[in-house]
Amino acid sequence: MQKNSTKIKTIGLLCSGGDAPGMNAAIRAVVRKAIGEKLKVIGVKRGYHGIFEENFINMDVASVGNIIQRGGTILHTSRCAHWFEKEKREIAYKILKKNKIDLLVIIGGNGSFNGAHLFNKETNFPIIGIPGTIDNDISGTEYTIGFNTAVQTAVDAVDKIRDTAAAHERTFVIEVMGRNSPLIALHVGICTGAETVVMPNSEVNYRDIANIIERGKKRGKHSSIIIVAEGKTKQEAHRLGEILEAEYHIPTRVSILGHIQRGGNPSNRDRQMASVMGHIAVEAIISGKFNMVTTYNKGKIGLTPLSKCLKERVHSFNDLNKLALELSI
Ligand code: F6P
Repeated sequence: MQKNSTKIKTIGLLCSGGDAPGMNAAIRAVVRKAIGEKLKVIGVKRGYHGIFEENFINMDVASVGNIIQRGGTILHTSRCAHWFEKEKREIAYKILKKNKIDLLVIIGGNGSFNGAHLFNKETNFPIIGIPGTIDNDISGTEYTIGFNTAVQTAVDAVDKIRDTAAAHERTFVIEVMGRNSPLIALHVGICTGAETVVMPNSEVNYRDIANIIERGKKRGKHSSIIIVAEGKTKQEAHRLGEILEAEYHIPTRVSILGHIQRGGNPSNRDRQMASVMGHIAVEAIISGKFNMVTTYNKGKIGLTPLSKCLKERVHSFNDLNKLALELSI
């Protein structure tokens, strides 16, 4: 933990990477708590891009009114490749200093945190991270803002697809987001009673999946749902659908849920997490605990060093996978 002798007066606040429902609730919490603590908050629009563009707005209490329930982010977000160029980060440092911004609060995923970590190592510029990504894939925390809402959105969509699947006695292969993390897929699979969940970047046994579908049909099932985790190639759902139809003669449709999972009003869990994490982020700042991320572990929200939150969370998730399989016989 880096302690900074300089007193923080002005916080720069930005969102980075893919948006996640609950980011607005986190923005609101940071702004309101900071103002309550007599800190100034500058909103940086469009993620790290906004620093280069000096796209700054002054955030007062009213600027975050009526946003807690809204998806997306009022600050906008982006994936900024320039941030990974050292010379560009040097420029960013000068811009932040010129604008008298003393610390950055970054709401984003591990790509954004990696960028922040590099910047801090080079310049000693203090950072606080708040994990915001639907993928729930950041090391050092068991929860990221947006995951719960994204899962619920996908569950609602699959429930609707199930109606038409049953009406036509079809199988649906449904791809959900999550990049390399299987977590959205596993939660959606369990909550929708899917026949099976295809893990990201895994070797798919088409024969096994066809057998599972046939077994269901034999005991009177009228529809089957296969959840596919997005993974690196984003092609598996279509490949699986084609093989089920062509080789196993199973009437199949493919549905890619896509960005619908990133939108919508945040769930109460995401609003709650975002509010507490935003509040704790500012508490960390006023007590001089810098280069930390607000994290959720073993039922508690606390702080974890930024350096421990840079990787993709690696888990076998065998327990969830086993549950999905054992309940779908
Ligand atoms: O990281 C969030 C996420 O929605 C992933 O699940 C997905 O792989 C990716 O972002 C999509 O990114 P983009 O919106 O830039 O295409």
